[in-house]
This record gives sequence, structure tokens and C-alpha cells, in this order.
Amino acid sequence: MNELSQNASVVSRAAIPLFAELGSSLLSVIIPTFNEVENVEIMVERLAACLQDVRWEVVFVDDDSSDGTLDVLRDLSRRDSRVRFIHRIGRRGLASAVTEGMLATSSPYLAVIDCDLQHDETQLPLMLGRLLSGACDLVVASRYLKRSFGDWDKRRLRMSQLGTFVAQSLLVIPLSDPMSGFFCLTREAFDACAHDLSARGYKILLDIVMSSKVVPRIEEIPYEFRPRVHGGSKLDSATVFEYLLLLLDKSVGKFIPTRFVLFSVVGGSGLVVNLIVLALMFKIGHVGFALSETVATIAAMTSNFFVNNVLTYRDKRLRGLIQLTKGLLSFYLFCALGAIANVGIASVLFEKHCSWWLSAIAGTLVGVVWNYAMSSTFTWSNTWTNTRTK
Ligand code: GDD
Ligand code: MN
Repeated sequence: MNELSQNASVVSRAAIPLFAELGSSLLSVIIPTFNEVENVEIMVERLAACLQDVRWEVVFVDDDSSDGTLDVLRDLSRRDSRVRFIHRIGRRGLASAVTEGMLATSSPYLAVIDCDLQHDETQLPLMLGRLLSGACDLVVASRYLKRSFGDWDKRRLRMSQLGTFVAQSLLVIPLSDPMSGFFCLTREAFDACAHDLSARGYKILLDIVMSSKVVPRIEEIPYEFRPRVHGGSKLDSATVFEYLLLLLDKSVGKFIPTRFVLFSVVGGSGLVVNLIVLALMFKIGHVGFALSETVATIAAMTSNFFVNNVLTYRDKRLRGLIQLTKGLLSFYLFCALGAIANVGIASVLFEKHCSWWLSAIAGTLVGVVWNYAMSSTFTWSNTWTNTRTK
């Protein structure tokens, strides 16, 4: 990698006049922001300082920050035409923010960098230089090449290493830092995968690499990861879940929708609830079987509804008493119809001399697909929901 740093050309000057004449930028820097009020202005100053030779612009994508970030962004963009921003309401997520930022630009080269000043922006000219030289389509700044992890404690480092290991075992391309949030790529490389991105969660680089049909030519450069000075990390335990979903989406998701897989797993958990309640009432409490099974079924449906609401449909999560009540009632209704379909199909097959277990499996499958289709369309339809999560 040292060799790479030494040989790396700075921005090729030949390319600059062309874009300068056209008045458009050569490089769009996409920066997702959520409550970064103290960092945005410093970030723009630093970009201006290190990208003096380049025609650049910055596109901040802000998810309705409540700390005044938007006021600063508005002010900055009035003063400096290189600064633009997208204000998203009712949405959260780093990957989707970055994707939207990229889609809102026309520059031939794109960069992604965090706003918290942890990434070393002075690497940008070098990264752009590598793209301009035509040697690669994607340049990733990697923390692992220098083993530089800023102020991360052991736990955070271990989590990142585990995630990296899982990603590396799934990826065809060996990337030392597949979770990096700091990279540059050509417009063509982005366009080649834009329609296939999951845009779930935080791992936009992984998403881009895993979604590209033609594997991009990748280079990695080392950099010094700095500690965060202002504000705090927005990544939490939900991030780990989102990460698993992305991996699921990019592997099994090619064959079966990830949401359906989750829905079925939650359905399985409902079966456990059903059995526990039934055992408690019928076996231990000596309540009649029909009553015990009715209560157990309602308990299972209720737990399925709430678990689906926070896991399977977390991006469309229903909130507040009215939304939740409406959602729960519609879920009961669809499950009941699903159960009728299940029993109906199983009985018909059984009468047609199918084995009892094959009839039962076919009935269950029809029931699950029905429940999934109905609840996706009606219970968690977008029209009812307010997707704001924080
Ligand atoms: N628009 C938007 N929406 N921006 C967000 C959101 C969101 O929901 N969540 C975080 N951001 C912005 C932050 O404001 C910051 O500019 C950047 O995304 C990174 O967020 P941090 O909260 O600082 O993340 P981190 O430092 O803990 O994680 C970084 O390192 C990870 C490596 O393990 C990020 O770069 C991750 O992408 C990276 O995977
Ligand atoms: Mn950070």
C-alpha cells in the first residue's frame, strides 16, 4: 500500500478544465448527517481546503436533525453554491441517505464521508486521483491497513472485526474494511448497481459491492481514523440487526424476499408462544382444551403482531394507540382468514388421498403466504404509517 501512496497521482489536471467550462462539478461529496450541528461547517471548511484544485460540490443528506444542523446547512448553502443539502422527513438510515444523495448529483466522481470528522478528508484528492487515472472504479479508505481505530473501545472493535469477518466470508472480493464509510467511486460504478441496492441500514459500501453485477475494480488506501470530537455515534444495537438483514438480503434475498423470511421466522416464534400458553392453561391450569387453545392462538397472533412490528416491518412501524389498534385488528382478521384457508386446503388435499402431513404442510404454506401478502399490503401499508424512528 505504501507503494500505492507514493505512486498515486494527484488529480489529473487535464480533466479539470472540461468540467470547469461546463460549470458542473467533477466530484460530489455525499455526507449523511443526523445531529451534527457542530461538525458541518468545519467539514465544509476542510473540504474547501483540501479540494482546492478540484471543481467539487458537497451534498449533505439530513434526516430531519433536531439540533440545528439544518439551520447551519441552509445558511452554508446560501453563502456557498458548492454546498447543497437534501432534507428528508420521516426517514432514517445512512445507506438510503447516501444513495439519495448520489442520485441527486450529476458529477462523474462521487465520494462518501462521515460528517463527524473521524475520516481523514485530506485523502480525497489522492482517492480521486486513483479514479481519474482509470486504474480502478472504487477506492476505499481502510482502517485495517494501518490498524487505526480512533477512540473505539475493545467491544466496538471486536464487533467491527466480527462484522468484517462475516462480510469477508460472503464477499467474492477481499476488502480489508468492508464496513468503511469513507470511499470514492465513479458514476458508472454507482449507476451499475443503483437499481439493485438494498439501501438498508448502514453498510452502504458493502451494499454497493454486493449489488454490483460486474465486480468493480477496487483499490484500498490506508488512513488514520480519528476520534469523534463533537456529537455522538448514532449506531446502536439496531445497527447489528440491520447489518444481518443486509447480508440476508444479499444472499437468501435473491431467491426469497427477506421480509418473508423474517415473517416466517416470527411465525415460528408464534408457534412457541401458542404451545407455552396452551401448556400453562390446559396442562397446568386444567382449563378446557377449546378455551385454552383459543386464548393460546390469540396470544400467539398478538405476539406475532408486535414482533413483526418491530422486526419485519421496522421501517413501516406502526406507532401510537390508534395505529396499533387498527393494525392489530386487521392482523387478527387476516390471520383468521389465513387459518380458514389453511384448514380448507389441508382438508381438500387429505380427502384427495394426500398423506396427512403433506396436506398439513401445504395448508400451512398457503396460510403463511396469505398472511404475509395480506399484512404487507394492508396492516403495514405505507398509507397508515409514519416511518419516523427517532
Ligand atoms: N442522514 C442520516 N441518517 N445520516 C446518519 C444517520 C441517519 O439515520 N445515522 C448516522 N448518520 C450520519 C452521521 O451524522 C455521520 O455523519 C455518519 O452518518 C456516521 O454516523 P456515526 O453515528 O458517526 O457512525 P459511526 O462512526 O458509529 O460508524 C461509522 O463507522 C462504521 C464502521 O464500523 C460509519 O461510517 C459506518 O458507516 C461505518 O460502518
Ligand atoms: Mn462516526
